[in-house]
Amino acid sequence: MRFRCGKTDAVTDLLIELEQFEKDALAAIKNAGDARELEAVRIEFLGAQRGRLKELQAGLGQVLRTAEKETKARLGSKFNEVKASVGAALEQRKRELERPAAVTGGLDVTLPGVAPELGRRHPLAQTILEFKDIIGRFGFTVAEGPEVEDEYHNFEALNIPHDHPARDPLDNFYLATAASAAGSGARLLRSQTSTVQIRVMEKTQPPVRVISVGRVYRPDAIDATHSCMFHQMEGLMVGQRVTMAELKTVLRLFARAYLGHDVHIRFRPSFFPFTEPSVEVDMSWDEPGKPWLEIGGAGMVDPNVLSAVGYDPDRVSGFAFGLGVERFSMRRYRIPDIRLFTSNDIRFLRQF
Ligand code: DAH
Repeated sequence: MRFRCGKTDAVTDLLIELEQFEKDALAAIKNAGDARELEAVRIEFLGAQRGRLKELQAGLGQVLRTAEKETKARLGSKFNEVKASVGAALEQRKRELERPAAVTGGLDVTLPGVAPELGRRHPLAQTILEFKDIIGRFGFTVAEGPEVEDEYHNFEALNIPHDHPARDPLDNFYLATAASAAGSGARLLRSQTSTVQIRVMEKTQPPVRVISVGRVYRPDAIDATHSCMFHQMEGLMVGQRVTMAELKTVLRLFARAYLGHDVHIRFRPSFFPFTEPSVEVDMSWDEPGKPWLEIGGAGMVDPNVLSAVGYDPDRVSGFAFGLGVERFSMRRYRIPDIRLFTSNDIRFLRQF
């Protein structure tokens, strides 16, 4: 394809060869699939010893020796141009090959990602789920009740008379509504989950076996074991010949299932308006000088309560209990202060 006819043609030839060189080199560079192949291409085209450009340069030297000034300039700049363009293409391809193949459209899917932090349940939520699981094995189902209650369900139906100190406005969070200002139909944040006993019995005929877990509110002084909002698990079992023996067994087995077999449960005679007889329940607590911690109250459902919901106290009997959820959780996880539950401190929460 090449014809050498005199000086001018030698120049044209050279220009054509330079262009061909550039074309071939760019194609080879583009086809190089990895760094090793690219290096072979570089040696073939730009190699200092026997590279094709080196050959062209030798031909160029001959032509330049006899060429006119103008031709010299033209050839010289074409030579430099081709050399620069091939050099730049090599560099660019080299960088491309260094980058992973998956780099596309400005999105490098091989870069390490930002791992989403896994959430987890609040320790109390974990405790409550476990409570429901354990007590479910005793045949108790789960009931819900409102946190904003009326006086009837929080007090009246639970046999707590009008003048009872538990109804003192200073001991409860009454809602300031027009109705309460008028003195009737007052509502409050429930001070106990015993309200749900009433709500369940109003709708269900015996036998009944339910629990209800939820928040209760009291304007108590806050310290390491008291809060103005905490959780209770209420339990109620009503049927024929339900006795205190069953109450004690259920509570003991429940506490041991959640806290382990080394926990001791103690029952102390007490008084609650809605149970007769009543007990307070303690669990063993291994702090020096503090062998027991109260975990709740319990007893046999008072006949007045059974009557209030239309049950016949001569035909059915029942037991009820109300346990502080936080105290179980605190013992299980060795949490020293109840305020940690609501501190929203990620260092605390991460441990569960
Ligand atoms: N409601 C009581 C409280 O909050 C606890 C309690 C005592 C619940 C005796 C009961 C019970 O169901 O039978 O102090």
